[in-house]
Amino acid sequence: MDEGMEVMASNLSPVALVTGAARGIGRAIADRLLERGYQIALHYWDVPDQAAEWVDHAREGGRNAWLLTGDLTVPSTPIQLVDEALALGGRLDLVVNNAGRTILHPFLEMDHDSLDFLYRLNFLAPYLISQRAAQWMVQHRIRGNLVQITSVHYQRVTDQDSAYGAMRAASVRAMESMAYELAPHGIRVNAIAPGRILTPFLAEGADPDRLQEIDAAMPLKRSGTPEDIAEAVAWLVSPQASYVTGITLRIDGGFNLSMPTARIGGAQTFI
Ligand SMILES: NC(=O)c1ccc[n+]([C@@H]2O[C@H](COP(=O)([O-])OP(=O)(O)OC[C@H]3O[C@@H](n4cnc5c(N)ncnc54)[C@H](OP(=O)(O)O)[C@@H]3O)[C@@H](O)[C@H]2O)c1
Repeated sequence: MDEGMEVMASNLSPVALVTGAARGIGRAIADRLLERGYQIALHYWDVPDQAAEWVDHAREGGRNAWLLTGDLTVPSTPIQLVDEALALGGRLDLVVNNAGRTILHPFLEMDHDSLDFLYRLNFLAPYLISQRAAQWMVQHRIRGNLVQITSVHYQRVTDQDSAYGAMRAASVRAMESMAYELAPHGIRVNAIAPGRILTPFLAEGADPDRLQEIDAAMPLKRSGTPEDIAEAVAWLVSPQASYVTGITLRIDGGFNLSMPTARIGGAQTFI
């Protein structure tokens, strides 16, 4: 273990690092973890004002929260981020790797820059963050949790997702190995695969008719909310899930169960 990791687990309240947490799903996760008594190291990249507002709000409520930033496509950022969270919070009990982006291109037109971006942000960054955090947890005998936010694309092929889907699948497979190797240390590692989650960012400016059409196509007849995902994170890291490790919890309103269908002779049937 190197000298950069010499932070003592002195503070007794648990600390969670959540990446990409100033808005959308990450923000809902940070909200829920704060309610559950975590101190929050909140990472953001593009939206400093929203991030600062969240941290101010948490502090006004008498809670500890810290602001962290950094471009996670830069290979040195993940380790710096964990070290900064440890320096500020004094310990680390939970990491939620939420930051990530979708880039969809036809396979025949996929370019090297997009591939490289998806690899760095959606696979390499969470891998390195998890590794650094787990090294510290093992060293300090913290029976913590790592949670990877992935996507239903990890499992199901949809149009133009050869690179995005592959990185999501890779992160799930890495999570399973982490879960196996960290189990003897009491560290649990799990993933959540959201389907369509309607964040304020996605809803903004969207055609309401199109949104209704998409909701109607979902088996449960609605899109998900960021809170649907946050609730699942809170459960996965709770003592109630203490026998759960290495799973990927699909939260998609049944999307992955459905097949493309067509109406033939008045009946809905598989095509
Ligand atoms: N919404 C969905 O339907 C859906 C479905 C499946 C999976 N997901 C996954 O769930 C996670 C959250 O999604 P979301 O819809 O809430 O938000 P999002 O708009 O897709 O962005 C996710 C977060 O990633 C951060 N981020 C993007 N590029 C970054 C970079 N280069 N360095 C550091 N951070 C970066 C952003 O930070 P800033 O906010 O600071 O820019 C943002 O908060 C993502 O991994 C997403 O792929 C979402």
